[in-house]
Amino acid sequence: MATGKTRREHWGSKIGFILAASGSAIGLGNIWRFPYVTGANGGGAFLFIYLLCVFLIGLPVMLVELSIGRHGKKNPVGAIKKISPDSKWSLVGYLGVITGVGILSYYLVVAGWTLGYFFKSLAYSLNKVHFAQFVSNAPTQSLSFVLFLALTAFVVAGGISDGIEKMTKILMPILFFLMILLIVRSMTLENSMNGLKFFIIPDFSKVSGKTFIYALGQAFFSLSLGMGAMITYGSYIDDKSNLVSSGFYVVFFDTLIAVMAGFIIFPAIGGAPSKSGPGLVFVVLKNIFLKMPMGELVAILFFALLAIAALTSTVSLMEVAVSYLIDEKGFERRKAVFLTSLITLFWGIPSLLSLGAVPSLTKIYKGMGFLDLMDFIFGNISLTLGSLLLCLFIIFVWKFKNAEKELSRGFEKFKNFSILWKISIGILAPLAISIVMIYILITGETLG
Ligand code: PHE
Repeated sequence: MATGKTRREHWGSKIGFILAASGSAIGLGNIWRFPYVTGANGGGAFLFIYLLCVFLIGLPVMLVELSIGRHGKKNPVGAIKKISPDSKWSLVGYLGVITGVGILSYYLVVAGWTLGYFFKSLAYSLNKVHFAQFVSNAPTQSLSFVLFLALTAFVVAGGISDGIEKMTKILMPILFFLMILLIVRSMTLENSMNGLKFFIIPDFSKVSGKTFIYALGQAFFSLSLGMGAMITYGSYIDDKSNLVSSGFYVVFFDTLIAVMAGFIIFPAIGGAPSKSGPGLVFVVLKNIFLKMPMGELVAILFFALLAIAALTSTVSLMEVAVSYLIDEKGFERRKAVFLTSLITLFWGIPSLLSLGAVPSLTKIYKGMGFLDLMDFIFGNISLTLGSLLLCLFIIFVWKFKNAEKELSRGFEKFKNFSILWKISIGILAPLAISIVMIYILITGETLG
């Protein structure tokens, strides 16, 4: 087990990193959030704009994070400090550490629902579950939250190659396989083609400025960008690896899985979803499962899939704070995990009680409940702000030529593409993100 003083841990292999980072990226964001945001924003047209955001802005920002991480060989605070000692820029790292725990505090609530639904399907009692009642039941909410937190802590305590890498190497192929099964099931349902059309044929009359804003927010969230998760995972990559191809694979897999989730959910719905929101998967899809042949089995597989996807993301959220405590505060890994879990637990309580259990928490700001507010502050604003600050950090502090040197290590040919990357980080990304930030601040609207 590594402490602040021993040699830094490493991924066992390149594929190990790609699977772990894809595991971080692929999560509730892809399978729970992406379909309902797509559903609420016009289907195919949203998908098209989302893909633009992912490849024109998401991928370049991913390379920013990976290069800072590998260069600094530390958590986000330490890595930024190494590049720019004695400056205020390390605050961006602190923002990342806090954001990680902030997202974890409510992400675990939804992750807990996936476990709850999984167990209910196993017991063949999914038909008795009523979403609103389920989420307002304080004891079950707390139990599933704690269970998911404990699972996450267990994996993170195992370390990088023995904990996170080992788990993702087993779970990611299972996830992929389950998705294929579910796509086949969905596509062979009666109205599947109508649902598919809604998802892939763009209707640009539904596009407005807002569509871009939602798409960019979803891209950052889904790719785990803006809070140093990729800086942290990047810090465990060895110097010979090709960061650019690794980053590309992660972005590609994340996007593939989001699109595959669309191929499961929209054909199952059989058209444009009548109601789209956080309940899409837990209410609409559940009811569809209950009506389809072999639906119970499908439900078991689907909620297992969601839980797996969530777990490989929660470990990355926790790892950011844990690596900070190990690198900067000299904690032993297990103690760092314990402290982070404790903070997450207390922070999570108001969120898990905000869905009906404690009425005063259901609406605390502009109609948002506590959980929604956490998602707005940490899942939207903070990731967007963090990504912007990291771009500015490259432009003004670390400088393109140094970042480029890091990205060329293990990939000499990067020079041939670097102009595209510079255009994105120097102009496109900061411009797009600034527009989103201004929009959020003016309207106070959430992106999810
Ligand atoms: N990318 C994860 C998902 O899509 C969520 C996440 C965000 C994880 C930020 C880590 C950091 O579910």
